[in-house]
This record gives sequence, C-alpha cells and structure tokens, in this order.
Amino acid sequence: MRILVTGAGGTVGSAVVPLLLEREAAVRALSRDPARRTFPAGVEPVAGDLERPWTLDGVFDGVDAVMLYPHPETAEEVVARTRDAGVRRIVLMSSSSVETDPDADTSGNFGHQHHRPVEEAVERSGLEWTHLRGGEFMVNDLDSYPDSVRAEGVIRAPNGDHPGAPVHEADVADMAVAALLEDGHQGRAYEITGPEHITPAQRAAVISRALGREIAFVELTLAETRELWISQGVPPEVCDWLLWEPGPEDEGAPWGPDEFVSKDYERVMGRPGRDYARWVADHIDAFR
Ligand SMILES: NC(=O)c1ccc[n+]([C@@H]2O[C@H](COP(=O)([O-])OP(=O)(O)OC[C@H]3O[C@@H](n4cnc5c(N)ncnc54)[C@H](OP(=O)(O)O)[C@@H]3O)[C@@H](O)[C@H]2O)c1
Repeated sequence: MRILVTGAGGTVGSAVVPLLLEREAAVRALSRDPARRTFPAGVEPVAGDLERPWTLDGVFDGVDAVMLYPHPETAEEVVARTRDAGVRRIVLMSSSSVETDPDADTSGNFGHQHHRPVEEAVERSGLEWTHLRGGEFMVNDLDSYPDSVRAEGVIRAPNGDHPGAPVHEADVADMAVAALLEDGHQGRAYEITGPEHITPAQRAAVISRALGREIAFVELTLAETRELWISQGVPPEVCDWLLWEPGPEDEGAPWGPDEFVSKDYERVMGRPGRDYARWVADHIDAFR
C-alpha cells in the first residue's frame, strides 16, 4: 500500500511515518517545503500546500490512503483531488472538540469550526473515511512547562484541580496507522484521549517524581492565564475558546464538565493508552 502522510513533519505525522515503514507500506510525505524536513530513509518527500490546492498536482497519484491534516477553507477541493486521483481511503486528523449534538451552539467552539467542515467534506466524498478525534495532546505541555521547570522548579497553570484526559501523540499515531492500513475502521469517528484523569497539579507531581526533585505547582487565575497565552502568541479567540472569556464572575468557577476518558484506543489497539508518566519519561530531556 502507498500512503500519503500530510503533516508528516509534525508531531503526530512524524510518529506515523516510521510506524508505516515498519509495516512495509510505501510512504509519501507531504510538506510545504520538503528541503526543511528530514524524513527517514525510504520515504518519498513531495512538495505541496493544502492551503493552495493547485500545488497538489500529482501528489495523490498512485496513493491508496491519505492521512489528512485539516484545512477547512480548501477541504472540499483537496478531497475532490484525492478522489479524482483514485485514492480509496482518508484518515483525518480531527478533534474531540467536534460537537456531535446538532442542536448545540458551536459559535464559540473554534475546534469544531476548524475540524467539522473537513469531516463533512470527507464524509461527502464517497471514499472510505476514519476521523481521529484527538483530545488534548500531552505534547502541548512542552509549550508551557519546561522553561519554568528548568529555571525555577515551578509549573504555572490554571485550574490545578480540574482533571483532563490528555493523550500521548504516539497513541494518536497508532490509531492513524491502524485506520490507514487495516479494514474495519471505516465510517468511524474515534475519540482518542489518554487512559486516565489527571489534573495539572498531578502532572507537576509526575514530573517531580521523574526528575527526582520537587516541582511546585502555582495556580494561575483565568485572567492571568489569558494574559500569559496572549503574550506567547496564542490568538485571543483561541484563548476565549480554551479558557472562556474571563470576568469577575468566572474567577474560581469550575473549568467545565469533566473530561471524558474514551476507551476507543484500548478497543482498537487491544491495550491501554500511554499514561502521563510514560509521556514524561519519553520527553524527560526537555525538563532537565
Ligand atoms: N494539540 C492538540 O491538543 C490537539 C488536540 C486535538 C486535535 N489536534 C489536531 O491535531 C492536528 C495537529 O497535529 P500535529 O500536532 O501533529 O501538527 P503539528 O505538529 O502542528 O504539525 C503541523 C504539520 O502540518 C503540516 N502543514 C501545516 N499546514 C500545512 C499546509 N498548508 N499544507 C501542507 N502541510 C501543512 C506541516 O508541514 P510543513 O511545515 O512541513 O509544511 C506540519 O508537518 C491538527 O489537526 C490539530 O487540530 C490537536
């Protein structure tokens, strides 16, 4: 089978590529600038930009299945090109933010707005499809935790007692490979969370144990968090979605409904997903 991996240089895609090679698939890796990326031996790099579908001429030729990175603005045309080239299957990197209740208000749900139009284009295509609706990635913690852990022995985050169910990027990659190569996953939307509830304060404790030294957890208010994220370049509308608009009435309010721990990974892979301790062990150098 020949698989085209879009996002092949990204967090999940770069974990998918070696797994596909291990399973003896032929891998074509899409990048806007393949010269900037290093892919494993045997991978066929191709240039193309999902935002500019006319750059994708020939990219899908001879391909059996595509792992698709979402671009809502061009999804319809990209999917049409995929189908016209004779591709059989699309596995979409989607998100657990996709709202499945048709009556729900999705006006402030940036994740739904970004991913659902792509899901719809894929579902309309007539091709075999699988949606990978990933929850919060553990790897997001690499954006905010390591600097203060290394410099001050501190993690600063909001909602210290609120449990989430973050997922290891390797688990998302496992599910992508299964859906790309195997039958039985078509027409399914998998919710991919981690295997456990864990709070931000508990994450600090896990990192403390792995480093063998105390890492303090300092709780930020929602307003402080928003200010910090904006200073780090997170767009305001994304802050508002991830962390609703702060106001005096929201300070100290609960984060929202408890995160849902999905069993989809265990059902598909036949084993529990990787927990946060495993993720920290896999990335320990970033914290040292
Ligand atoms: N982070 C989370 O908590 C979370 C949760 C749920 C779902 N998700 C979803 O997971 C996906 C992100 O996966 P990731 O973290 O593996 O991505 P990532 O590390 O941000 O990597 C992005 C990849 O996409 C490629 N890319 C971006 N724009 C492109 C374009 N216009 N044309 C072609 N390629 C393009 C980049 O390739 P080049 O730079 O080489 O072109 C890069 O390889 C997204 O769909 C995201 O919404 C994330």
